[in-house]
Amino acid sequence: MAKRVVKVIDLVPGRSVQLLSIDNQALEQEKFWRDHVCAQEPIVIRKAVLDWPAFKKWGMPGYLEALTNRQVGVSDTFNASPAGVWHQNLPKYRLDEAIARLRNAAPDDTFAIRALPIPPEWRADLGGYDFLNAHRDLPPRAYARDRLFIYRNASTEWHYHTTDETLTTQILGTKRISMFKLSKENWHAYAGPIRSNLHHMDERARFFPADASLTKFEATLGPGDVLYIPPFWWHGVDPADNGFGITLAHCFRTPFNRLGSLSDPAVKDVIRAQGSLMLALRMRAFVALGSLSRIVNP
Ligand SMILES: [Fe+2]
Repeated sequence: MAKRVVKVIDLVPGRSVQLLSIDNQALEQEKFWRDHVCAQEPIVIRKAVLDWPAFKKWGMPGYLEALTNRQVGVSDTFNASPAGVWHQNLPKYRLDEAIARLRNAAPDDTFAIRALPIPPEWRADLGGYDFLNAHRDLPPRAYARDRLFIYRNASTEWHYHTTDETLTTQILGTKRISMFKLSKENWHAYAGPIRSNLHHMDERARFFPADASLTKFEATLGPGDVLYIPPFWWHGVDPADNGFGITLAHCFRTPFNRLGSLSDPAVKDVIRAQGSLMLALRMRAFVALGSLSRIVNP
């Protein structure tokens, strides 16, 4: 009997529409910055990084496996959110063995090597992004600059980022992604059940608003496609095939004048979730400064 592969996108009810996508040549650096990063509007940039050597090399069995000098944790579940302590307790394998295991797994097996820093030996196979001005590609505040996700059938649970801009870069395999932004009005109606994992229940529909009015922006990413994910946009990811896949998440710093606003329900939620009063105050001060700089420099 085939094993169960968990998918997450369709567990949240809503109306699906196509996410805006553009050809790499058509996206000027200024347009990307102004209409997407500063406006916090996601976009798919098609065939943006196909000239990276990784596209020719990383699919060849044996190439990535030549690297043996480190250990990685391998999960046999989808990427739950948050990663937490369970993730640190995963069984460890030599990287070459882990990759061979993922390449040779059955079509219904689920495996994930999550958030692997780029081994220095692989870095020469990657390049930059034409549409992102190098002067604006600054180190992120919270996330690692680059994280690799090496997987088979491993979906990534619905979540959002509180800061830092993300370029999800598909290298091997295809992925379906879905995104939505919540407002003050519907934040609790959706964030509550998702946080409580009620969307995984068979009777999930009764935990969400009955009108199914949420708009979900969706696209399928193929090798070389890049998805820009702004902060506070919820996103879920399901592999669109059952083969061996690799995705790179490249992060850069959110411009100061675009740090969250205190009236945004997502920002309030983050402040509430801070572990201490000091951290909550620090986050409030950060947001207030961001708001001030928005007034001065809209
Ligand atoms: Fe993410």
